[in-house]
Amino acid sequence: MGVDAVVVLAAGAGTRMKSGTPKVMHRVLGLTLVEHVLRASRAVSPQLIACVIGHGRELVEPHVLAVEPDARVVIQHEQNGTGHAMRIALEALPELTAGNLMVLAGDSPLITGDTLAQLTQVHSQSAAAVTVLTSRTPSPQGYGRIVRAVDGTVSAIVEQADASPEIAAINEVNSGVYLFNITSLRQHLAALTSSNAQGEEYLTDVIAAAVAAGEVVTAHIGDHTETLGINDRVQLAYAVHVMRERINTAHMLAGVTIVDPATTWIEPDVKISIDAVIEPGSHLAGHTTIAANAVIGPHTTLVDCEVGQLAHVRRTEATRARIGERADVGPFTYLRPGTVLGEGAKAGAYVEIKESVVGAGSKVPHLSYVGDATIGDDTNIGAATVFVNYDGVAKHRTVVGDSVRIGSDSMLVAPVTIGDGAYTAAGSVITEDVPPGSMAVGRARQRNIVGWVLRKRAGSSSADAAEKAQAQEES
Ligand code: UD1
Ligand code: CA
Repeated sequence: MGVDAVVVLAAGAGTRMKSGTPKVMHRVLGLTLVEHVLRASRAVSPQLIACVIGHGRELVEPHVLAVEPDARVVIQHEQNGTGHAMRIALEALPELTAGNLMVLAGDSPLITGDTLAQLTQVHSQSAAAVTVLTSRTPSPQGYGRIVRAVDGTVSAIVEQADASPEIAAINEVNSGVYLFNITSLRQHLAALTSSNAQGEEYLTDVIAAAVAAGEVVTAHIGDHTETLGINDRVQLAYAVHVMRERINTAHMLAGVTIVDPATTWIEPDVKISIDAVIEPGSHLAGHTTIAANAVIGPHTTLVDCEVGQLAHVRRTEATRARIGERADVGPFTYLRPGTVLGEGAKAGAYVEIKESVVGAGSKVPHLSYVGDATIGDDTNIGAATVFVNYDGVAKHRTVVGDSVRIGSDSMLVAPVTIGDGAYTAAGSVITEDVPPGSMAVGRARQRNIVGWVLRKRAGSSSADAAEKAQAQEES
């Protein structure tokens, strides 16, 4: 069931956040507050979507348009209240003359598309001028209170600042989400005043005005966790908590094992297949996808990564990396953008990789830096190898073939190519191409200066040990 228009109010400064960032740009699990709201609104397929912005518009406007390229952005230069914001919005949208319009608050990121669809259904069945989404909460502080007449119908919404103790005790609150008949809304907005405790034009005053005009006002009571408005950072953290549980629960019900949901952060666009296991302390961000039976964590952060079936990724930090089926990563591994690990490949402890392909079955097991490289299949990179990709001015690529054995502590100075089946001797500095099947030795030959310690370090513990060894050999 659709609506004709959605208007998201997002112009406020968010003073209570005490932040240099506009309130609606703060994030809950990777997405901004306003992005969550815009996404939820898609459930009611609006013909037109508008966003009222003002405070921090140079940041908010491009962001809103990135999320919703067709959105109409309306600027509210002075934030004179939610009623003022709506008045400006309707002045900027003269084509909206009839039909229904949904108002959403840009600071309420937990609202779901399902609830908005329900609200739309209730509204369409009631012939009401306004349907307001409300909720009950034991702690109504800060919200507008829903005042009902003796017959139970809604008669007004009274803001916290204007509430008598009696009204302040009401535990049904305004979510800031409404469906309005556009004709009625235009008429009542024109008559709003700012004679109230905050000196603002309240959108909530439209409710009493509609009732006074003999129009039908209905309320739909929703779940308070969905209607939570973010006004300060404590509420922001609580919203993260609620969203995290919601996402984790959905994955668990879909067949993903989350060992410790309390320490697992999964962002909304992450996709996880069945029988994957997410160990404690893991953070899956962006557009990460995890294939079936992969094991992630403990203590792993993946941003925009792709992990294949049965791969195991533990104590790892990775961004824009593709980790193949049955690959083995970690512990303490850093995979940077452009890393591609083939099927069954390994990246072990204290290994950093960027812009490199590690072929199927190839291993970088210990203490290495791999940058700007293409490594073939079944190759082993010895411990402490460095792909020397930067000459101080430009980056260069290294190509390593199939079934290569790079000796420990090799420096592969790019641009350089190591042919299939070649070896490098441990400790080599490789500056020239190595033909297939060759052993490259790029280091000084070892020289032993016999008796040096006894001559140069006489009386030291090393000299004592050397003397003993000599005596033993002679006896
Ligand atoms: C508002 C409601 C309150 C409701 C609560 C739900 C009014 C008068 N009060 O209060 O009944 O319980 O939301 O969370 O509507 N905004 C503008 N322009 C403005 C003022 C606000 O765009 O001039 C935007 C804000 O950016 C925000 C939303 O409107 O996204 C709500 O504004 P806020 O100041 O947070 O209202 P509350 O005091 O929370
Ligand atoms: Ca608010």
